[in-house]
Amino acid sequence: MPGCEGYEALAHVYDQLNAEIDYAAWADFFEDCFDRYLAARPELVLDLACGTGRMTLELAARGYDMIGVDGSADMLGEAFLRNGGKHQILWLQQDMRTFELYGTVGAVTCCLDSLNYLLSPTDLIQCFSTVHNYLDPDGLFLFDMNTPYKFQNVYGNNAYILEDELVWQDGDEEERAAIYCGWQNAYHPDSGLCDFDLTIFEEMPDGSYRRSDEHQQERCYDWDTVRTCLEQTGFELLGVWSKFDFTPASDTTERWYVAARAIKNEQLHQ
Ligand SMILES: C[S@@+](CC[C@H](N)C(=O)[O-])C[C@H]1O[C@@H](n2cnc3c(N)ncnc32)[C@H](O)[C@@H]1O
Repeated sequence: MPGCEGYEALAHVYDQLNAEIDYAAWADFFEDCFDRYLAARPELVLDLACGTGRMTLELAARGYDMIGVDGSADMLGEAFLRNGGKHQILWLQQDMRTFELYGTVGAVTCCLDSLNYLLSPTDLIQCFSTVHNYLDPDGLFLFDMNTPYKFQNVYGNNAYILEDELVWQDGDEEERAAIYCGWQNAYHPDSGLCDFDLTIFEEMPDGSYRRSDEHQQERCYDWDTVRTCLEQTGFELLGVWSKFDFTPASDTTERWYVAARAIKNEQLHQ
C-alpha cells in the first residue's frame, strides 16, 4: 500500500533517527485538546499510522485503551516489541484509507506527517471519510501535516547526513552499533510530490557495515485543500496551530497541528 514500502530497513532504526520528537509533550497537547473540545476524555483512542507506536504507548501509559493501525508490518513489529506485552493494545495492519474497526472510538490521532504519505486529495478524502465513519459523534481527529513552507524551504532539494548509535542491552552487556543515514530530497513543486531517498549504513557485530536503501514519497497539500477535504467529509475544523501551546499557524509554520470534530448526520438534521 502506498506510503508503507519505504520502511523495510528503516523500521529498525526509525526511533533512533527520530529520537528528538517529544511524544510526551505531544500527548500533553492531545490531552489539552480533549479537555478543550470533549465533554469527557475518550476511553478508546485510535492511533492511525502508528508506526513504531511511540504515541500509542505514550497514550496507553496515560490510561487510554489504544488501537494502533499501520500499513507496514515492519513498523508494527517494532511497536509490538516496544510494548513488550505491557499494555493491551490492538495492533492492526491496515491501510489508513480503508481500515476497519469493530466499532467507533472517541478520538483518532495521527502523528508525524503520516497524512503527507497519502499522495492525492482523493486519498486524503478517503482517509478522512473512514476516520469520520469510526469516530463517535463529536469525536476528535487530531493530526499534523508538513506545510508547503517546509517542503519549499526545508526539504527542497537538500541532502542531510544523520549520524547516530543504536544502544541495547545483551544480558549484562551494553551493546552499541553506529548508524549513518544519507537523506536526499527532491521536491517537485508542479506535482507537490517530494521524493526522499535514504541510504542507511548500520554497523554489524564484526565491524562491517550493512547498507540498505529506501525510497519514500510525501505530498505537499495547501491549507485550502486540507480544509476542503475536512469539510467534505463531515468535520468541523476546530483549529490549526504551529505549536503545542496553541500558537496559531502562520505562513512560516513547518508543521500544522490540526483538531477537527466529527459531525454526524443525525446531528446535522437536529
Ligand atoms: C513518518 S511515519 C510516522 C509513524 C508514527 N505515527 C510516529 O509518530 O512515529 C509514517 C507512518 O505512516 C505509515 N503509512 C504510510 N502510508 C500508509 C497507509 N496508506 N496506510 C497505513 N499506514 C501508512 C507508515 O507505515 C509509517 O509507519
